[in-house]
Amino acid sequence: MDLSNELINWYLKNKRKLPWRDTDNPYIIWLSEIILQQTRVEQGLPYFNKFLDNYPTVTDFANATEDDILKLWQGLGYYSRGRNMLKTAKEVMEHYGGAFPVHYDELIKLKGIGEYTAAAISSFAANEAKAVVDGNVYRVLARFYGIDEPINSTKGKKLFQNLANDVLNQQHSGLHNQAMMEFGALHCKAQKPLCATCPIGLSCQALKNNTITSLPVKLKKLKIKERFFTYFLIIENDRILMNKRSDRDIWANMFDLPLIESPNELWADELLILPEFKQYFGEHIKIGKTGTMQKHILTHQRLFVKIIQLKSIPIVMKKDWFFVPISNLQELALPKIVDLLLRQILAF
Ligand code: ADE
Repeated sequence: MDLSNELINWYLKNKRKLPWRDTDNPYIIWLSEIILQQTRVEQGLPYFNKFLDNYPTVTDFANATEDDILKLWQGLGYYSRGRNMLKTAKEVMEHYGGAFPVHYDELIKLKGIGEYTAAAISSFAANEAKAVVDGNVYRVLARFYGIDEPINSTKGKKLFQNLANDVLNQQHSGLHNQAMMEFGALHCKAQKPLCATCPIGLSCQALKNNTITSLPVKLKKLKIKERFFTYFLIIENDRILMNKRSDRDIWANMFDLPLIESPNELWADELLILPEFKQYFGEHIKIGKTGTMQKHILTHQRLFVKIIQLKSIPIVMKKDWFFVPISNLQELALPKIVDLLLRQILAF
């Protein structure tokens, strides 16, 4: 089965009639593609018509003010798109005499035009053999070829771009690109894809292996977690109270000080009434000096660390706590930030 031919046949029968598809004018295609970034067709359509009515050519667009553009853009969101368009329109006037470029290598240099948009404009306007890869294309390719490499990993992005280039119809790249995207948008949908009537279902790996709902794979962006570590400096007769860390968290099995962790900064008065604090240190403990908060950045965590001196020893010892002579501290594996803070205080 020739994937491209099948999808082009499907497209010619099933495509939506959209105004930017009846033209090879790169300015009009550019206008539509920028408006349609992160925007559904139904939402973008009235904006496209409004912009084209107000600015039928790139010269008209370039002569607008930023206020005019932003006013027309109102309600569409991501306003930097509008600002970048004005910069690009002016650049097209200056460097291309008002003739909007159609070649990928020229387009990619313009503000607000990335790989997808440069491939879309160059293939739709000049049939340049550049494959577009948008969310629809990722989905069609991942399912048809049964690829579970995440589409947003560095390796996945390369893999899918190469695959899209490999399957690109070199003679009819514009039509091929439109067909891939439209097929993803209308037939091979993210939710409830129409597999029962799929023109390429016989060769679809995901359909065969029952993995339609799990493809494509997308890595969840890990949220940077903020953690607040309030450490306690407790010294008795030249010995310091230390904590051995668990093997299931950052700094596994290394040594730091007794601590209370919280999702926000803990102040001394809040600390004194915390049940966890009272359990170990009782009700009448004296708080000494408090160090300044230090920020420490790890790959997926942002730590805020401070040390508070306590003037008496715990009434209950946690099982991972132990006293060690300050002179032996350098023998313990300390996380960098803990080592730094302790050296500032103790000069060991
Ligand atoms: N979304 C982005 N570009 C599009 C196009 N050319 N046609 C339909 N939807 C799109």
